Amino acid sequence: MADHWHRRILEPRATLFAVLTTVCISVGGLVEIVPMFGAKTGPEAMEGIHPYSPLEVAGRDIYIREGCYTCHSQMVRPMRSETLRYGPWSRAGEYAWDRPFLLGSRRIGPDLHRVGGKWPDAWHYDHMKDPAGMTEGTIMPNYPWLLEDSYDPADVQASLTALQTVGTPYTDEDIASAPAKMKEQGDAIVGRLATAGIQTTSDKEIIALIAYLQRLGVDGRAQIKAQEEP
Ligand code: HEC
Repeated sequence: MADHWHRRILEPRATLFAVLTTVCISVGGLVEIVPMFGAKTGPEAMEGIHPYSPLEVAGRDIYIREGCYTCHSQMVRPMRSETLRYGPWSRAGEYAWDRPFLLGSRRIGPDLHRVGGKWPDAWHYDHMKDPAGMTEGTIMPNYPWLLEDSYDPADVQASLTALQTVGTPYTDEDIASAPAKMKEQGDAIVGRLATAGIQTTSDKEIIALIAYLQRLGVDGRAQIKAQEEP
């Protein structure tokens, strides 16, 4: 072994050895890193997955602000115990317009990726006001200020512009018409709440949050169902 070429030629020459090692590691690094610059960032949108409406973006911003993701994940794992409880497991292409993604890493509460349509709007209204009144013994906090405070449509337009910059396909027209669209979608929720005896207005934060929660996983569920039942 003493006269192995590696030991004779390379190992006594520390500088040469260091240079060659650096070259080898650089090549390895470049092979890993360079293709990433050409790759698209994030998953490609699955067919039928549409960007969030302006009101849903407002609700999503509230979800982030309130830190809901610290207790709730948004990813149904491909395991039977999960799919029985929550519905179809989450596909990568469903997250294409989730910027930033809200997969979460802790489940103190249940997964919310398919919560859209699970409860009526009025349930969410009452649950946000007083979760313990809806689910005995829950440790989810109350969010009463969401029922009083209003979102600012200008903030939502700023969020839409930011999302447009990073590649979500909102047109300038979508952004300009956002306040009117938000009122339209909000009024529909207010109408459904009124049938349950709840009086409120479409500018409230709770309305935006309900719009967002009711949208979660809905596009994906319809698309996956269509694929499974040809
Ligand atoms: C301290 C942890 C905690 C935080 C923070 C939290 N939740 Fe919850 N959440 C829970 C728990 C526990 C439950 C299950 C019991 C219940 O229904 O309250 C739950 C239930 C829910 C449900 C019903 C889910 C289902 O499948 O029925 C929704 C919707 C929900 N939370 C939304 C939110 C939103 C929106 C926020 C942020 C504004 C939030 N949660 C913040 C712990 C939390």
